[in-house]
Amino acid sequence: MRKIAVATTGGDAPGMNAAIRAVVRLAESMDFNVVGIHRGYCGLIEEDFEELNARSVSGIINLGGTILRTIRCPEMETPEGISKASENLKKNHIDGVIVIGGDGSFRGAWALNKESGVPVVGIPATIDNDINNTDTTIGFDTAVNTALNAIDKIRDTATSHERVFVVEVMGRKRGFLALSVGLAAGAEIILVPEVPFLVDDLEQTLEEGRRKGKHSSIIVMAEGAGDSRLLTERIAKDLNYEARLSVLGYMQRGGNPTAASRILANRFGESAVQLISEGKGAKMVGVEGNNIISKPINQAWETPKKLDLSLYSLANKLAV
Ligand code: F6P
Repeated sequence: MRKIAVATTGGDAPGMNAAIRAVVRLAESMDFNVVGIHRGYCGLIEEDFEELNARSVSGIINLGGTILRTIRCPEMETPEGISKASENLKKNHIDGVIVIGGDGSFRGAWALNKESGVPVVGIPATIDNDINNTDTTIGFDTAVNTALNAIDKIRDTATSHERVFVVEVMGRKRGFLALSVGLAAGAEIILVPEVPFLVDDLEQTLEEGRRKGKHSSIIVMAEGAGDSRLLTERIAKDLNYEARLSVLGYMQRGGNPTAASRILANRFGESAVQLISEGKGAKMVGVEGNNIISKPINQAWETPKKLDLSLYSLANKLAV
């Protein structure tokens, strides 16, 4: 009987469990045995496996995190680690691998597929949404809503105290999370790595807002856009404003996945299992509009994903 292995790798994202559930149940419906790999690629190197079936994945669609656990595995960036992982696929008669994770995970998937010849398919799951060839990733919608709920709360106290708040959000080196959250939150200023800014210009924007009657402002800052603490201190000092910093941090990685993240996970799982059943490896699944697509997995990192700057200019127009 053919066997599929499924793993979650890299940073966790809400909806990974929904994807695991979809892969297990759909693979079983196509007469595959399924084995879960614990702790990402390190679990493959150490043969840390768990047999999975439809019952194993009951009651997890609504849970954040990943039941398989995940760690970042530096060994998988070495020839020895890739070779060991490849050997273990063959030793355990694994006919296909589905990796649920971000771009780092996809590099490992590509290397594993190349080394072993076993089809490996990537499912994009990261709160950063920084993977090319897909409009969005599992977990991104959930993280946007988690950060948005937090910022709505922060705005209450910012308004009450007539303060400027710098809110730092995740996103690694990109601004996808910050831009979506900032637009949804009605932030006065959004700072993303893709658009350099001058503090003087930012302060002038705040002063103009104050002249127009704004007594408080929210600045959403991507963690890759600069030092949020220094910026907050600079604003307080230069403008004699009460300025505060709120770093949202790891709450953006957890929580119950939204419907959108769960539905995306189900659709990606279906497409990934189908690709494996056809022996089509070194692929990633993605979504374009409402269509699920598949692309060569190496394009995920070879072509940087573009930030939609029309959303950036819309946010600026609305923040008057
Ligand atoms: O890739 C997801 C992410 O949360 C990034 O937004 C963030 O910069 C990074 O992971 C944090 O990495 P770690 O979980 O290893 O601290």
